[in-house]
Amino acid sequence: MEHIYKKGTKGRPTLLMLHGTGGTEQDLLGLAEYIDPEAGVLSVRGNVSENGMPRFFKRLAEGVFDLEDLAFRTEELKKFLDDASEKYEFDRQNIIAIGYSNGANIAGSLIFHYENALKSAILHHPMVPIRDKKLPELNGVHVLITAGDNDPICPPEETRDLEHLLSSAGAKTEVYWHHNGHQLTQDEASEAKQWYEKHFK
Ligand code: MLT
Repeated sequence: MEHIYKKGTKGRPTLLMLHGTGGTEQDLLGLAEYIDPEAGVLSVRGNVSENGMPRFFKRLAEGVFDLEDLAFRTEELKKFLDDASEKYEFDRQNIIAIGYSNGANIAGSLIFHYENALKSAILHHPMVPIRDKKLPELNGVHVLITAGDNDPICPPEETRDLEHLLSSAGAKTEVYWHHNGHQLTQDEASEAKQWYEKHFK
C-alpha cells in the first residue's frame, strides 16, 4: 500500500493514520505531529479508487458498504501492518490508529475483525463498519470516538451503536460530541490529544 513512514522515539507508539474519502497519506500528518511528535507514524493511502478518490474499501452507496470488499481490504491492511512492523522494526503490538471518516471505518473494521490488530484507536466520525458480527475480545483496547450531532453522514445512532458494540466486547470506549457536521474540528483534535496523553504518556 502507498504510505509514509516516520520512525518514532524508542518505546513510543506507532500512529496509523487513515484518511477520509478522497484523501491521501499526506492529509493527517499534521494531526499525528500534534497528537504525539515523538511517536512513529505510518500513514497509509486507501487502495480503492472511487472515481479517482482514494478510499479504504468500496461502497455501494453513501453509507452502504460493500461488505465483501470491506473484509478483503481489512485483511489486506492487517497484513500490511504485520509486514510494515517487520520492515521498519516497530512494535506490532503498539499501533494506535487515528482515522477520519472512511479511515475511521476501516480502523473500526480492523477492531471488529481481529483480536490484537490495533492496541487502541481514535475514530473521528466513524460508522458501524459491519453489523451482526461477533466481535473479538477487546479487553485492554481503548477507543475514543468523536462525533458531530449534526453529522448527516454519520447520524448519532451510528455513534451510539458503535460505542455500545465496542464496550460490550470489553473495549474502554469514550465519546466526544460536538454540534457540527462531518468535518474534523480543532476541538476534536484537542480532545483526542488529551485522551491520548491520559492513556499513552
Ligand atoms: C464511508 O463511506 O466510509 C463513510 O460513508 C464516510 C465517507 O467516507 O464518506
